[in-house]
Amino acid sequence: MPEMEDPKTSENRGSRVTRRQFILGVIAGGAVVSAASYKILAPGGRGRVWGGERLITLNVNGKPRRVEVMKQETLAWTLRYKLGLTGTKLGCDRAECGSCTVLIDDVPHYSCSVLTNTVRGRKVVTIEGLASDDGKLHPVQQAVVDEQGFQCGFCTPGFIMSAVAFLKVHPNPTRAELAQGLSGNLCRCQDYSKILDAMMRGAEYLRRA
Ligand code: FES
Ligand code: FES
Repeated sequence: MPEMEDPKTSENRGSRVTRRQFILGVIAGGAVVSAASYKILAPGGRGRVWGGERLITLNVNGKPRRVEVMKQETLAWTLRYKLGLTGTKLGCDRAECGSCTVLIDDVPHYSCSVLTNTVRGRKVVTIEGLASDDGKLHPVQQAVVDEQGFQCGFCTPGFIMSAVAFLKVHPNPTRAELAQGLSGNLCRCQDYSKILDAMMRGAEYLRRA
């Protein structure tokens, strides 16, 4: 997948930290970036924090998570780069592909288009929060494993989160209804028929559970 540049940084290349530099810094610093260690330095301003951050508490996957966020920060960014929940994928980063889908109070949302500070006091569930504590997969996850319904898998978490939300409200959908319910998610590998097979099987497992 071609790398996308953050226009906020790319237009200021040379004077500010680019997205590539930032991500390389994250990778070099370890898989999980703690809120305490996350700082972007302002150009020429040693030690100054860029953008201004506030410490807030989020409810993510049933647990309180304290994290410093910028006012303009998206939930997808916070989940991936501050809380280490990289199961949430960033594809288009502009509310088109659905790969960043998470549940907020049981309703699917594109987390790339939700500001983190707006979800305080709400329940956020990511793909990491679907399996039970003993490691047993959610029925929709198990169905994906059993059907081998995806190719590269990049879009998988988003599809699963959307399916989980849809099937809660429509437990016995037709194939066409389920396809409609998942129409906000795109797959670059275009494996839609297999994906629907997997999701229909997930619906069946959920009904049996
Ligand atoms: S990354 Fe959020 S919709 Fe594409
Ligand atoms: S994007 Fe590759 S399986 Fe969907």
